Amino acid sequence: MAVERTFSIIKPDATRRNLTGKINARFEEKGLRIVAQKRIHMSRAQAEQFYGVHKARPFFNDLCTFMTSGPVVVQVLEGENAVAKNREIMGATNPANADAGTIRKDFAESIEANSVHGSDSPENAAIEIAYFFAGSEIVG
Ligand code: TYD
Repeated sequence: MAVERTFSIIKPDATRRNLTGKINARFEEKGLRIVAQKRIHMSRAQAEQFYGVHKARPFFNDLCTFMTSGPVVVQVLEGENAVAKNREIMGATNPANADAGTIRKDFAESIEANSVHGSDSPENAAIEIAYFFAGSEIVG
């Protein structure tokens, strides 16, 4: 299997509850390496562009408000099959449907405040990584 990179966000509900380390441990225990990481406060414009694919959805406005409500930790995770592996570690979008032992099952507060983002394809991972990180900030 190829070594791959994916983009991850630890969302405001999780940074507010001081869960960054616990969430990072889940990634590391499952073989994903954190090769870039920074804590930022996303601007409204950044959130709207990042979630642009959901612009027409009824939850878009609230989602952008939530994502700018506090600090987030943006990350690049590296490992074999990293995109799919991270989606497994995260669990389903709605924590009510997430499998036992996933981040969203164990930590998420709601479908909106669901603690983590992870890219859904290698193509989107490349776009999302480039949106938040310069190449020189990623140290594999
Ligand atoms: P989506 O890309 O469908 O899920 P995922 O984060 O698992 O890839 O949705 C993006 C985010 O939008 C999701 O993490 C939380 C928010 N969202 C809502 O607030 N309400 C909803 O009904 C859905 C589907 C998503």
